[in-house]
Amino acid sequence: MVRLQKYLADCGVASRRGSEEIIKSGRVAVGGETVTEMGVKIDEESDVVTVDGVRVRPRSKLVYIMLNKPAGFVTTVSDDKERDTVMDLVSDIQERIYPVGRLDYDTEGLLLMTNDGDLTYKITHPKNNIEKTYVAEVTGSIDMSTITRLHRGVVIDGVRTSPAEVTVIGATQLGTKIEITIHEGRNRQVRKMFEAVGCIVKRLKRTREAGLTLGHLPLGKWRRLSESEVNMLKKIGTGKVSSKEKSRSMYGEKAAKQHRPAERRPKKKPRYSGNGIKNK
Ligand code: URA
Repeated sequence: MVRLQKYLADCGVASRRGSEEIIKSGRVAVGGETVTEMGVKIDEESDVVTVDGVRVRPRSKLVYIMLNKPAGFVTTVSDDKERDTVMDLVSDIQERIYPVGRLDYDTEGLLLMTNDGDLTYKITHPKNNIEKTYVAEVTGSIDMSTITRLHRGVVIDGVRTSPAEVTVIGATQLGTKIEITIHEGRNRQVRKMFEAVGCIVKRLKRTREAGLTLGHLPLGKWRRLSESEVNMLKKIGTGKVSSKEKSRSMYGEKAAKQHRPAERRPKKKPRYSGNGIKNK
């Protein structure tokens, strides 16, 4: 049970004080009966509250989480083939959240989930060129000319990909471990880019998206985003994300405190290399 003026405030009708005035003026009804006195309590689940004849309901709390998606889960709310979905991994969250964008069934890593439709739109809209970084384990070795091709763009599904940052991390039993950052979200884009240069992706993991970093979040686990991470995301498309904010959300508070403006930092080496050594 909750006081009527608090309920109205939770619905975004007015402040608690403002809601008291609205009640006094006879504009509010509970279950069809006009209420003008203070102190009335209502049952949020079952009572129908109207203001000027229009039903009001509390705004749902906005929730932002990142999940470290394991392979073997579909990135949908339900699946007609009855496969496991990412929703199975976040069933302890009360609010009706959903995945922001998609990772393939076999892809692991950072998946944002929320019930904030505005933010979902900003992150998934191609005009915002959201940066996404993946670590791929691919077959074969990768030479400098292959890196340059991936960096400059390869043709997939008849359209050239936009420039990518490519870093060889090292050799693996399967072939090569490589980090790639893209700014588009085309279907199976990373797998197709490697296919275009003659390599098969054996394992794929998203490690960063929109300035957020997966970090040490265990596979299959989720965490809520911090306030500074959410604030940074909300600035997408406004041109207002500062590099300090990016440092804070990508590497934590400590890094943000050590942040130096770009002009005081030593010049960055190019982030791609064909010699198996990470240029970072
Ligand atoms: N690129 C892919 O090929 N697969 C993903 O899941 C994400 C990006």
